[in-house]
Order: sequence, then structure tokens, then C-alpha cells
Amino acid sequence: MSRYRTHSCDQLRPADVGQNATLAGWVDSRRDHGGVIFIDLRDREGITQVVFRPEENAAVAGQSHALRSEDVISVTGKVSPRLAGKENANLPTGAIELVADSLTVLNKADVPPFPLDEEITNEDLRLSHRYLDLRRPRLRRNIQQRHRIVKAVRDFLDGAGFLEIETPVLSKSTPEGARDFLVPSRLQPGAFYALPQAPQQYKQLLMVAGLEKYFQIARCFRDEDLRADRQPEFTQIDIEASFVEREDIITMVEGMLKHVFKAALDVEIPTPFPRLTYAEAMDRYGSDKPDTRFGLELQDLGDTFAQSSFKVFRGALDSGGVVKAINAKGFAGITTGQIEELTRTAQSYGAKGLAFIKVEGGEWKSPIVKFFSDAEKAALTEKLAIAEGDLILFGADKKEVVCEVLGRIRLRVAEILKLTAGLKVWNLLWVLDFPLLAYNAEEAKWDAVHHPFTRPLPDDVTLLKNSADYGKARADAYDVVLNGVEVGGGSIRIHEADLQARLFSVLGISGEQQKEMFGHILKAFSFGAPPHGGIAFGLDRLVMLLCGEDSIREVIAFPKNNRAQDLMSHSPAAVEPRQLRDLHIQTTAKKAGDAAPQMAQPPAQRIVAEHDPDGKP
Ligand code: AMO
Ligand code: AMP
Repeated sequence: MSRYRTHSCDQLRPADVGQNATLAGWVDSRRDHGGVIFIDLRDREGITQVVFRPEENAAVAGQSHALRSEDVISVTGKVSPRLAGKENANLPTGAIELVADSLTVLNKADVPPFPLDEEITNEDLRLSHRYLDLRRPRLRRNIQQRHRIVKAVRDFLDGAGFLEIETPVLSKSTPEGARDFLVPSRLQPGAFYALPQAPQQYKQLLMVAGLEKYFQIARCFRDEDLRADRQPEFTQIDIEASFVEREDIITMVEGMLKHVFKAALDVEIPTPFPRLTYAEAMDRYGSDKPDTRFGLELQDLGDTFAQSSFKVFRGALDSGGVVKAINAKGFAGITTGQIEELTRTAQSYGAKGLAFIKVEGGEWKSPIVKFFSDAEKAALTEKLAIAEGDLILFGADKKEVVCEVLGRIRLRVAEILKLTAGLKVWNLLWVLDFPLLAYNAEEAKWDAVHHPFTRPLPDDVTLLKNSADYGKARADAYDVVLNGVEVGGGSIRIHEADLQARLFSVLGISGEQQKEMFGHILKAFSFGAPPHGGIAFGLDRLVMLLCGEDSIREVIAFPKNNRAQDLMSHSPAAVEPRQLRDLHIQTTAKKAGDAAPQMAQPPAQRIVAEHDPDGKP
């Protein structure tokens, strides 16, 4: 192969015994068995055992005593069978070893700051030496899997006639719901580029341009609070097509994911995926990205408690709210501490309390059953299939509050009961018919639920005439959910300048602002825009799930930590005053370096946000 090696460290097998081979890589481990030195030599592909025997070559064996972990070497020798009983069945090369007769040390290594063959919980330490972290087999496999997934996507979309087109990174702010990263312009004092939160407008403009089918493995930038599945820069599989309806996008995406699962995992996923409307998803799971790997569905108890003498339930119903419950089967053994934790969780999402019933020893143990009539108890037993050992958790409030709260409680209960632990299932589903608009009470205005280019469903366009109806309008939008994670989302777009302008007005964007912010797209639409629609996948999230990881940081070569810092290169960092002058920028940081991040904050602070359940930006 090269001066350094003839084979990879995953290549030699019993059939090669008797041959000479040269391998190169890192010293993974070194063991001294009474003067005989054994080395596990590691490269990207795998591990091969190398033996230095004094009786075969005393000089080289002597040389090998100086080898340490992570030294880089090239070694030549004869492929030999391992001694009987010494084979390693866990290693593809485990039946052979290389008996060394020459050794070149290509580079010595300092002692690594953490052992590479153990799980390290200090993530900051890992991230500050990411190049070492990436030497671990698990991360290497993740990066290889990411490559395979991207390649499968490219192959599929190429086959389906999509063109890969790059769009600008120095661009104009596009409203995807997060804060922008801004880049000051040197040539236009006081003006800023925005890094794209998504290539949304460019991909639509490519449709106006007549390119018909576009995709891009696109880097996106969003300055938002970070979580396990959110990074300030992340990657989308971004797709747009002309002359399509929702069903066309759905069929194409199902084909693409089928191809990806086959290529990456050799798994056949069934298509079509199940579909839920947004309303159904909220009603049954209390979430717009339902995890359907377990039941624990929300049951409506409006009929049961319509006449109840329990004030909390009756009051909620009388004022137009709902009463719902979940049956956590077999969880009657919940501790007081756990009940308190769940109650705090419920309250943090706006609940006034979390009523419960434990069914133990044939008895309903609960502070509230004394308020229930026999008929109510019978109805409840039937609706929730209540049996010995069950725990029933109730929500009574406005519908949105109850769904949100019980949706969160459902996930937490599943986590405590480890309902998904060890499950090897891929629950893909579509959520359809999202609301188009959501009322923002704080600013007393309407916001786009997806983004302002999303088309209303054909039947709902007329609802945009009257502000009393805005909340009822549904979007021609769709999300793909995998095991409770939103992996992709998109919509059919508005392609008419007048409807787009109407929607901007609904969002409270004045004619003047429309011209300034979106003049280019409104103008483009006036020159013959085709009907079009698309979708974007969070590539990092998809890879994370396919790799069985809990955080997208495990599938990104150089991720930021939860304070959006690169601990390896120390960015963001202060810059020279001269650079700021060139950019016409003055900082309000008190002294030079104040603007630079604090690199050494206690890890506790980093971990808190981690457990924040996800929400839409
Ligand atoms: P959306 O904002 O839903 O849609 O983003 C699409 C997908 O990107 C992923 N994602 C993220 N992944 C990691 N870190 C983040 N901070 C992050 N934010 C989003 C999610 C999400 O489903 N332009 C539209 C798409 C379209 O309409 O075609 C868009 O960006 O998996
Ligand atoms: P209270 O009568 O306020 O003491 O509440 C009795 C029980 O009902 C307690 O367990 C509360 O946590 C619970 N509870 C109170 N309000 C609600 C509500 N809106 N939804 C669900 N449970 C509630």
C-alpha cells in the first residue's frame, strides 16, 4: 500500500499466515509478559496484535520496551497463528498476530489527559482534546455511520433527480424562530450579514429560478438555548421541489429514509409511516412529537366527571377546560419523593397540581377518591382499564395546559419505568395539519408556528380574513418523528405574492417592513413562481438516533459545549482592537477580553440544561 503499511489493522486473517506484512497506527495498549512485549496496534479500521519476541529478534524486542500508549509506529513482521487457546474471538484479527522483526517509531506521544479505553464523564475534558476523543472506537464508528448516512441521502436524491446546490452562508436574516448570529460588514459600515438559520428563502428562490429539485447538506446557525439535541451550528438535509403536493413530499421522504436505514443499519423500515394530525397527537400523547414506543396514552374524562362533586375537576370542565389522565400500569409503588418530583414537573409546565390514585391491596389510595361517586369510579375503572398495581395521574385545566403537562409526565414516567430501555424499534410517523398560527400573548400578536412561508391548507385560506379565525387555520405542514424526536419538518409553501403579503400582514409585518425584509421574495413571486414545497431533516439528530446516542454532540466531529464554546480552539474569543475598528464595531465589554468566554465554569452549570425537555424554537 505505502511506505508505512501494506495492510490495515483490520485486514489480516489466518489465510495470511506465513506472509510478511507492515502495519502502521497507534499503540493502543502494551503488555509485558516476562520480556515478551505484546502490543495492540490500532488504526481507523481496527486492531491487530503485534508480538516482540526476544528470541526472534532481540534488537527489535529491546526497542519495543520503550513504546507507550498512543505512540505512532510502523512495524513489519510475519503473520503467525496465535498460540492455541490465545485467540480473541471478539476481534476480527483475533486468530493471528504479527511477529515483529522491524519497528519504526514515527512519533512519540505524551501521556493522554484521559484514558482512551474508558468512558469519561467529564465532557469538557473530552471536548478540549476532541482529536483524542475521536480516536475512541465508538466515536469513530459514529463518524463513519454519519458518512454512510450522508452518502445514502446523496445517492437517493441524485437518483430521484435532485441537484445539490450550495447557498450563501453570509446572508440575510430569515425568520426560523431563533436568534441570528450576525457578521459585521467591513465594506458597509454598520451593516450585518446574518448566518442562515436555514436556507429557506434561497431554496424557494431556486424554485422560482426553475431548478425544480434542490437539496443541500446545509449548515445552519441558530443562537438559542442548547440542549442534548440542539447545537448552535448544526446540519440539515435540506430539500425543496416544484410542482409537488404534500403527498409527493411524503412519498419521496419515506423512500429516502427507507434507503438510509437499509444502507446504514441494514434494516427494512415499513412504509407508509403512520400519520397523526397535530390535534390527535396532542390529544393522545400531549406532544407534537409523540414517542409511540410505549402506551401511557392520555384518556379524556370529560364525560366521567361532568357532574363531579370534586371541585378541581368540575371547575376545569365548567370553565371550558378538560380532565385527562394516564394510567401508569404497575407504578403504584411510586415513592412519595417521586410523586413530589412529578408534581414539581407538572407545575413547571403550568399545572396547579397533579392528582393521583394508587391501586394497592385492592384499594384506591388517594386524597381525592373520597369525592368520587360509585358511578364515577366504575366509569374510570373501565375507561382506564384500572387494575391492581396501577398509578393514575390526572390533569384538570385548560386543554393546552393539560395536554402539555400530561405529555411531559408521560415521558418522565416512561423514563423512570425504563419503558424504552433496550428496545430496538424504529417508530417513524408523520404529524400533519399543524396550526398555521399561534397567538403570542406577551407581544399581543400572531406568530407563524412553522415559518411565514408555510401555506395554509386549501380549505383554511379564508380563515385568514378574520382575526377571530386565525387560530383555527391549519398549515399544509408535516413533521417526521422518530422515537419521539422531531427529525424533520417542512411544508408546502405560499407561491403567490398576494397570499404571502397577506400572511405577513397577519403576522403584524407592515407593508414598509415587508418591502425591507422580504421585498426580494415578494418580487420573485411576481415573476412566475411554481407551486413548491419541501422539508428539512436535522441530520445530526437522525445520525444520533441511528447510532443509539443520547446527544448530537456524540455524532459531530467538533461540537460546541452547552455554553456554545469550542473548548479546544477556545472560541468564541476576544479579537484585536484593530479588527474591531476595521469592522466599525465597539464593544461595551469593560476591558479587552471581557467579551471572551469564561472557559472554566463549573460543570454543574453545563448539565442543568441537558435535562430540559425539548420544545419548538
Ligand atoms: P425546522 O426549523 O423545523 O425547519 O428545522 C428542521 C430540522 O432541523 C433540526 N434542528 C436542529 N438540530 C440541531 N440543532 C438545532 N439547533 C436544530 N434546530 C432544528 C430538527 C428540525 O426538524 N426551513 C425549515 C424546513 C422547511 O420548511 O423545509 C426548517 O428549518 O430536526
Ligand atoms: P386540592 O383540593 O387543591 O388540595 O387538590 C387535591 C389534589 O388534586 C392534589 O393532589 C392536587 O395536586 C390535585 N390538583 C389540584 N389542582 C389540580 C389540577 N388542576 N389538575 C390536576 N390535579 C390537581
